[in-house]
Amino acid sequence: MKSSVIGTLGVISMVAAGSLFAATAEETYKKSCGVCHDAGVANAPKLGDKAAWAPRIKEGKDAMYKSALLGKPGTLMSAKGGAAYLADDEVKAVVDLMMAKAK
Ligand code: HEC
Repeated sequence: MKSSVIGTLGVISMVAAGSLFAATAEETYKKSCGVCHDAGVANAPKLGDKAAWAPRIKEGKDAMYKSALLGKPGTLMSAKGGAAYLADDEVKAVVDLMMAKAK
């Protein structure tokens, strides 16, 4: 049930309702990413820190998705931030959120 609701939200968000999906991405962020990205643990780019995100955003969205999904070798950023149970789309939604907050 829960996963079908999330799946439905994902489809809706791709069409239009970005704000609906943002709540879900924010929850995922808080649960699985905030532990490092809130405080900047091991130089994790903080949520909303434009200077930290600018050079990364330049690499492009696909590069950010790749780092988030597969991890960044040699850093504490592991695949899906260590939350292997997350669906790829859930992780991508958080990356979208992170990039949007850093603009
Ligand atoms: C254990 C700590 C930790 C957790 C948990 C974590 N990250 Fe990270 N993340 C890092 C660190 C450290 C970096 C910086 C890596 C570097 O460039 O040195 C990073 C970088 C990133 C980047 C930029 C990658 C790039 O190529 O520059 C993205 C996107 C990202 N994290 C997404 C996420 C998402 C999404 C989650 C949750 C699903 C998450 N992270 C959870 C530590 C973490």
